[in-house]
Amino acid sequence: MNQDEDVSPHGMWSSRWLFVLAAVGSAVGLGNIWKFPYLTGANGGAAFVLIFLVTTFIVAVPMLMAEVLIGRQGRNSPVNTLRILVQQHRRSGWWVLIAWFGMLAGILILSYYSVAAGWALYYMVMMASGAFDGVTAEVANQTFAAFTGNPWLLGLCHVIFLTLTVIIIGKGVVRGLESSNRWFMPLLFLLLLVLLGYGMMSGGFSEAFAFMFDFKWVDVTTSTWLTALGQSFFTLSLGMCCMMSYGAYVPSNASIPGTTAAIALISTLVSIGAGLAIFPIVFVNGLEPAQGPGLMFVTLPLAFGHMSFGALFGFLFFLLVSFAAITSAISMTEPALAYLVEEYNASRSRVAVTLGVLCWMIGVGTVLSFNVLADFTVDGSRTIFAFIDHLTQNIILPVCGLLLAVFCAWRLPRLVVQSQLGIRSRSIWWLWQLFIGVVSPLAVAVILVMGLFPCVLTQDCGA
Ligand code: PFF
Repeated sequence: MNQDEDVSPHGMWSSRWLFVLAAVGSAVGLGNIWKFPYLTGANGGAAFVLIFLVTTFIVAVPMLMAEVLIGRQGRNSPVNTLRILVQQHRRSGWWVLIAWFGMLAGILILSYYSVAAGWALYYMVMMASGAFDGVTAEVANQTFAAFTGNPWLLGLCHVIFLTLTVIIIGKGVVRGLESSNRWFMPLLFLLLLVLLGYGMMSGGFSEAFAFMFDFKWVDVTTSTWLTALGQSFFTLSLGMCCMMSYGAYVPSNASIPGTTAAIALISTLVSIGAGLAIFPIVFVNGLEPAQGPGLMFVTLPLAFGHMSFGALFGFLFFLLVSFAAITSAISMTEPALAYLVEEYNASRSRVAVTLGVLCWMIGVGTVLSFNVLADFTVDGSRTIFAFIDHLTQNIILPVCGLLLAVFCAWRLPRLVVQSQLGIRSRSIWWLWQLFIGVVSPLAVAVILVMGLFPCVLTQDCGA
């Protein structure tokens, strides 16, 4: 492939910074602000945070580089990128299945992600109306319970968020939206800092800090490892070929190690910042850290409700969270969207509506799992929401990530990888191979087996 042909048929990011912005837009979302704090709360605090940092920087970051480099090498939708690479290098066609599973994961994730994003839309309106002014912890709890207990209202917010997403991706204004990240993301960080300042002065900060960083091995279980690993994948938008499809539009002169390190660092800082903003409010108000998905929606209105200009700040915060959710949501559909456009020459808007309807249908299950079907479990212990979340985050993403790492390390020619990453020194090459070819895949495999079959450790699988 010569340099002049080295472009994607779908267009290119005009600079490496636009790629970083777009990838940060995809990475930073509800995963950082909503999910990370409630998973930390439910999994023992510091034990989860430390393992999350380890799985992010040792396992996920090399895989992020691998996904982007594979995308840039193939320059097409993930399915066609993998098809091109296996044909060029005479590898088995089975590798293409990874992209199919990635597309499936994208649709399943969007189906519930859009439900939670609908909550943010609702809270944006509620904050603006002043409904939380001077509110007590009990009322904040009750408001969330009453909201999620109402399937019609929840369904309406879900539909509104999905419709917005479909309109944006259908109109193809994605790139324009991504560049508005330039303003919205820093504003979101600024508001997180305001919340952090509020948390610091609230009296619960030292307890929150200890909860998040006072690590004790005894708190670590096999499920902590699996949940932290899944969260590392989820929050970096990894394992479902989303970053591969974004990688396809990266200019050939951009440094992959540099840009991916920036993406991982920003995303991790936002997660930690969100935790440090939320937990002081939890402790000072005697709330339950392990309460699950409602954590952010109970704690933050409480904080805003007691701040000067709280209604305005609260409105702005949930607006920015909704925006961060949209820039993530559009990236989830990118692998399937690019593939369907390439394969069937279909119009973007038609494909967007089809994907939206599919996500809506599956998402109804998640909507109902918070109310009418709250007692219904798919596998004996998980509601529909919890099951789809577990299946995608803890199984599909890590498995696809592992396979992509193996593909990159052992199936792509060394010269291709070296030139994509700009590696010239032999020792750096061996270090890279050690991580992407051995350490990361092995770690994922061990964590998956231990997390999914804990009986392996206790040797009572047959019992
Ligand atoms: N990384 C996003 C977040 O943390 O909110 C979620 C996400 C986006 C997951 C894109 C997967 C994906 F492909």
